Amino acid sequence: MNEITKAVIPVAGLGTRFLPATKATPKEMLPVVDKPAIQYVVEEAVSVGMRDVLMVTGRNKRALEDHFDRNCELELALEKKGDAERLASVNLSTELADIHYTRQGDPRGLGHAVLCAAPHVGDEPFAVLLGDDLIDPRDPLLAQMRQVHREHGGSVIALMEVEPERSHLYGCAAAERDGTSPVVRVTDLVEKPAPGTAPSNLAVIGRYILEPAVFDVLRRTPPGRGGEIQLTDAIRTLAATGHTVHGVVFSGRRYDTGDRGDYLRAVVRIAADRSDLGPDFVEWLREFLLDHQPVEHRSVDERPVELRPAALTA
Ligand code: UTP
Repeated sequence: MNEITKAVIPVAGLGTRFLPATKATPKEMLPVVDKPAIQYVVEEAVSVGMRDVLMVTGRNKRALEDHFDRNCELELALEKKGDAERLASVNLSTELADIHYTRQGDPRGLGHAVLCAAPHVGDEPFAVLLGDDLIDPRDPLLAQMRQVHREHGGSVIALMEVEPERSHLYGCAAAERDGTSPVVRVTDLVEKPAPGTAPSNLAVIGRYILEPAVFDVLRRTPPGRGGEIQLTDAIRTLAATGHTVHGVVFSGRRYDTGDRGDYLRAVVRIAADRSDLGPDFVEWLREFLLDHQPVEHRSVDERPVELRPAALTA
């Protein structure tokens, strides 16, 4: 069986949950400690040998391309200062992988973004890593998925157990489970099921290994939930038409960095565990929590009058 070398990272979404920070900056460029979220994702792909990375970008995504490109002026300045450590960190993102770009034009959904990768991927299995989904580097999910693909072929998706009352926020899978094994056989998928109708508590998270047959299915997949072409709907069709779809139930650390709360958790957890920053930061955090009194939280509309939109103050 072919080794998977190509990773597709869709980064063309609008990032509305993180506005106004994402008005001019892609959400994937938000720093998680001192690296943009997207770099963790690229490093994850490279760590399992997927060095051919295609980013599906859109408007406002120049910063992403710049981050993975050389910055000669900065390199020269760091060289002159003899700051070898920072120079190495700057060069790392440039040399990490062979990064290619294609544009989605209109963000018509994740399924449509994946379809934009078809000419680059060709007729071979490939991985999809969502650019705002951060899997803690200490919990190697992608390697496990690749192993399942080696053993069973077909497509492999990442799943996570969620509280039943949160199922409607995700794509959800119906699956045949063998005891407590984290590998399940997926029989059906529903994108954001109505509350109380989810087929299980297994939610789809942002890692996929897909067979190229998904492109033909995507071409025929009409807009679904939210008027968008849903990748979940295409994988559902694969499962319903005799293709093998497995799921790996992930129980490690995962953060949706497009969600403000999860983003904050990612920054705190990763900073706390870093040897250079962690000890001081954790000490501060302990003191902060001891001192911290519940406050009456301010809502955005409690901004000083001079900062409110004119229409609201008129
Ligand atoms: P999300 O639904 O999390 O992204 O899509 P979004 O639309 O940017 O987020 P909000 O809800 O408005 O805050 C998951 C992934 O799919 C990409 C996003 O960039 C993200 O990595 N995506 C989504 C695309 O590339 N194109 C799309 O049309 C939609």
